[in-house]
Amino acid sequence: MSTTMQAIQMDAFGGPEVMELREVAVPEPGPGEVRLKVAYVGMNPFDAMARAGKINFMPISFPFTPGLEHTGVVDAVGEGVDAGLVGQRVISRANFGAYAEYSIAKADVLLMLDDRIDLKTGSVYRGCSFTAWHALYKAGRLQFGETCLLHSAAGPIGIMGAQIAKSSSCTVIGLAGGPDKVAFAKTFGADHVFDYTQDGWVEQVKDATGGRGVDVIVDGNGKPNAAHNIELLAPLGRVVYIGATAGDMPDPVDIPTLIFKNASVAGMNLAPIEDPPDSPTDRTIIESVATGAWRVPITEEVSLAGVADLHHRLESRQVRGRAVIRVGGDLT
Ligand SMILES: NC(=O)c1ccc[n+]([C@@H]2O[C@H](COP(=O)([O-])OP(=O)(O)OC[C@H]3O[C@@H](n4cnc5c(N)ncnc54)[C@H](OP(=O)(O)O)[C@@H]3O)[C@@H](O)[C@H]2O)c1
Repeated sequence: MSTTMQAIQMDAFGGPEVMELREVAVPEPGPGEVRLKVAYVGMNPFDAMARAGKINFMPISFPFTPGLEHTGVVDAVGEGVDAGLVGQRVISRANFGAYAEYSIAKADVLLMLDDRIDLKTGSVYRGCSFTAWHALYKAGRLQFGETCLLHSAAGPIGIMGAQIAKSSSCTVIGLAGGPDKVAFAKTFGADHVFDYTQDGWVEQVKDATGGRGVDVIVDGNGKPNAAHNIELLAPLGRVVYIGATAGDMPDPVDIPTLIFKNASVAGMNLAPIEDPPDSPTDRTIIESVATGAWRVPITEEVSLAGVADLHHRLESRQVRGRAVIRVGGDLT
């Protein structure tokens, strides 16, 4: 085996151009760690935020290699780790460093990839489906047959959310930025998808509910359209904020408005409340993905040489669903 590998590295925060493809040493796993031969990396917005210096909840040191959600095959184990892991197909989610032929992961947070799910799908499905599931059912307390509104309905969380909510016979309304994203989001089963870049979308959502409003709203965009969320709620409706992709957090809602509208506003941060591997949630999601009942929205594949351009297109809102970075590929 070669002692060097191809990896993206950056020496400072900045735009996509700070990422360079370099020949670097293959890393060695430390105690409690494994080394993965990287297969695919899901292009998570967190990678772009980390590159830009906008992440303060995970340690970042230079030279830095982005790449969070990825799959691979265990290639070596560090001290104290079961050597039987070598050769296993796994999902790594808790470490950056995957824009490289080899990555290092903590052994105790690795997830085994179900035999029926390929390495490419494995790099994407769990993060977006778990986020959507917990936002809808746990934070939003979505009930069978209710109505939900999903911002960024052409993004992976919106798309998995639509399919999850439809499996509870809910009415799903999506919002997306532009006609291409509207058409794309519709193919995943939403009952209505409206273009929020056009005037009139607020009335369209109200009309789609017969004027009643929606029961649950999941919003990962933040400020630009959040001012309408309370207005669009049905009595006893719930708004769940999961992020602020558009840059700014929504303005606070005053308590008298919540009282008058019978409204609740919640936040959802997946990590502390995530159902564990082999939980009923995990098994339901794996089964739905493995059988094709829920389709994982992988829309394009680029090589390590294409990541700077991909970051640029993600940040200029040109990516639908989830793009993946093919590193070792299917590793057969
Ligand atoms: N709370 C949690 O535990 C948790 C976990 C994972 C992810 N998240 C959050 O969930 C949200 C959705 O995640 P995702 O992976 O599904 O992302 P995503 O939808 O792929 O995000 C990209 C989309 O965001 C929209 N967007 C709006 N303003 C934007 C801007 N200024 N720049 C770039 N994109 C913009 C665009 O869609 P339109 O043009 O259609 O608006 C774009 O296609 C994010 O806020 C993410 O941080 C939260």
